[in-house]
Amino acid sequence: MVGELDVGADQQSETWLYNDQYPGPEIRVAEGDQLQIEVENELPEGTTVHWHGIPLPNEMDGVPGVTQEPIEPGETFTYSYPAGPAGTYIYHSHVGLQLDRALSGPLIVEEETPHVDYDREYTFLLDDYLPEEPRLEFGQGREGPGPDGSGPRDGRGPGRGPRNGDQGDPPHGPGMMQGRRPPYAGLLLNGRLPTDPDVLSVEEGERVRLRFINPSSATTYRVGIGGHELTVTHADGRPVEPVTVDSFPISMGERYDVLIEAENPGTWAIQAIPIEGDESPAEAIVQYEGVTESDSIDRPQSSGRELSYRDLRAVSPIDGIDGRPEQTFDLTLTDGMGRPGRWTINGQVYPDADPLHIREGDHVRVRLLNRSTMIHPMHLHGHFFQVGSAVKDTVMVPPRMGRVQLDFLADNPGDWLFHCHHTYHMELGMARVFEYTQ
Ligand code: C2O
Ligand code: CU
Repeated sequence: MVGELDVGADQQSETWLYNDQYPGPEIRVAEGDQLQIEVENELPEGTTVHWHGIPLPNEMDGVPGVTQEPIEPGETFTYSYPAGPAGTYIYHSHVGLQLDRALSGPLIVEEETPHVDYDREYTFLLDDYLPEEPRLEFGQGREGPGPDGSGPRDGRGPGRGPRNGDQGDPPHGPGMMQGRRPPYAGLLLNGRLPTDPDVLSVEEGERVRLRFINPSSATTYRVGIGGHELTVTHADGRPVEPVTVDSFPISMGERYDVLIEAENPGTWAIQAIPIEGDESPAEAIVQYEGVTESDSIDRPQSSGRELSYRDLRAVSPIDGIDGRPEQTFDLTLTDGMGRPGRWTINGQVYPDADPLHIREGDHVRVRLLNRSTMIHPMHLHGHFFQVGSAVKDTVMVPPRMGRVQLDFLADNPGDWLFHCHHTYHMELGMARVFEYTQ
């Protein structure tokens, strides 16, 4: 529906919301439950809802022009599918640039027996806040290094952000993002600006599970917490062997679940520093019970160990993808190649692009090469894939000749979108459809 979004600090804007709230209402179910979600469209244009990450039946996938026609204003559509596997997911609009309004929310499928113990949990949605109507031109700017020759560094080493407590300096040199980032008015954690943050309380001695979800349209972050290490337990909802780090990068469409041990009483900040973008970090406050709130909030250090995909070992690797793939696709991600306003895969601009044909039962390999200067988080609908020892559904492909190889088993027939989860890149062509054929 159309409604008022209040991001704290006396800032509001009229935008589009699910059930008049942002983040959208948390949908929480047990693994195996049959989900039944009625979407009544009170927006002025057609919409669909995509259940990002869940390998559901194709007709429930919510992709306009691929799996369904948009739900027209005044109409209702019911999505129904079995919830699973357990994990942290996102639901969001999949029509045009609607994701850069406030049409997203958390979808949690609870595991019966988690592979890690914890005492309580919180969910965090990261978002870039656009107080105006999203427009395609926001994604069109010419790319290039900044005036000082700096650019986003390779994806392994997302830039070092502002130092402790210093929110003033853009991470990558002045003016670098000029003209190719939507005019965001800030970065939000759970719908709040850092000047008026969400506060979560913890008790000394507890283990706290934090689920981070990034439905931002154009922002990749590096997340850390002052005074605490993070033990990563799930990547894109799938359990991994716990690995302890000081921070982790999270790109558009990705999710990470982490545990913190509450053993350092005080008032601490969770920070999400933009890797591409010069807004102040998104922030939330961790407040220990019984500790009087102090003016000095301790923020994470910019040094320390940062998670890399190589650190992720899936508890349950994907079966059926050992050995040689039946099909291999080499896909090169580029900008408009001299023509701004396009983002291409092998030179083609979706929907004017060839489908990628696969057969049920195939082991499919995709080799991605990023020839542009921006990060592209590539998301496959309807399937998990394996990157090294990690099982994911969205993978960040580092800029400047970054390469990623992913493997999946074609076990869910239908037409499935594969695209960059940067909303503007997707809308300007960086997408393809995997089509099952006989
Ligand atoms: Cu979360 Cu096709 O998207
Ligand atoms: Cu992209």
